[in-house]
Amino acid sequence: MKSIILAGGTGTRLWPLSRSQYPKQFLKFGKHSLFQDTVLRCLEISDISEIFVVTNSTQQFYIKGHIQELGYDLPEENLLIEPEGKNTLPAICFGMKVIEKKYGKSTVGVFSSDHVMASSAMQIIAEAEILAENHLVTFGVTPTSPNTGYGYIKPAEQINMGFRVSEFREKPDVETAEHYIAEGCLWNSGMFLLNTETFFTEIKKHAPEFYNAFNSSANMQETYNNLPSKSVDYGIMEKSDNVVVVQLDAKWSDLGNFSAIYEEMLKDQEGNVINDCDQMNLNSSNNLIHSKPGKMVSLIDTNDMAVVDTPDALLICPRNSSHKVKQVVNQLKSRN
Ligand code: GDD
Ligand code: MG
Repeated sequence: MKSIILAGGTGTRLWPLSRSQYPKQFLKFGKHSLFQDTVLRCLEISDISEIFVVTNSTQQFYIKGHIQELGYDLPEENLLIEPEGKNTLPAICFGMKVIEKKYGKSTVGVFSSDHVMASSAMQIIAEAEILAENHLVTFGVTPTSPNTGYGYIKPAEQINMGFRVSEFREKPDVETAEHYIAEGCLWNSGMFLLNTETFFTEIKKHAPEFYNAFNSSANMQETYNNLPSKSVDYGIMEKSDNVVVVQLDAKWSDLGNFSAIYEEMLKDQEGNVINDCDQMNLNSSNNLIHSKPGKMVSLIDTNDMAVVDTPDALLICPRNSSHKVKQVVNQLKSRN
């Protein structure tokens, strides 16, 4: 099976750790970066020569470095550099086109590069290959809150190991999300299993300008010039009536804010995250503390906070308010 890793996003929800030039997928929360963990998971279903990374010219050097650090050599032609980021629909079309040209009709796993996930999920994904022959396969996660940053998938009748999808709704408002959860909807995990033939048939039907752009020129600059920004979720998944969902009963998180990161990290007895910095805390618990290796950080009578120290920016907020970081980033952007 082939794999496409989408690694061209510019995450801002973890500011000041992630920046537009150095997004979330390159952060290390343990031994490996999120991108490296994604590569290792893909290696469970694909040979290194069957993994294609879609990214941009700025991030390509991190991509190469992180793969080399793992001891693998990604063939140069598997690194697909977009002329500009226009969200996930063109990025996936780019990868699918290259794979189709090289291997003919193929089944392809499409992966975000900035999630944590149990590698056991790859088994479920591999088993879904039979469904991908005639359907667009999504993977659904049981929701835990009416999070508005996700797609919601409504399963209908069973088909093989999955369910037909009667509705796919990307990023609804809170009230609608609550309603979907009450109806038994799943979160879209952001991973897909796509057959090149079925995928391009659906693209032709629901996003003809993308189909035409990717079929009329092999020059990516030309192809991208005429395309709008569009995610695969709005562009195809919401529109197609040929989507199925397979439930993913495995640990999964998209690490959307510092609260989610806190949950994933190793903690000491007081619930403070253990990090490379030295810590001398007094009567303080359940804090996410991040600073540079060796720097001494001390918290006194402080609980449930996020303290994120980087060379040029410092964030201090209650962990549960860390979703508001986006507002700070927006204000910073409007200042420049
Ligand atoms: N190459 C490339 N180019 N990659 C991109 C681009 C782009 O222009 N934009 C985003 N990506 C990559 C990101 O780096 C990430 O790995 C992946 O594509 C998904 O993009 P996000 O921007 O993180 O999407 P999202 O989190 O808002 O929403 C998606 O994921 C959710 C689950 O985390 C959707 O699929 C939702 O429906 C889903 O619930
Ligand atoms: Mg995401």
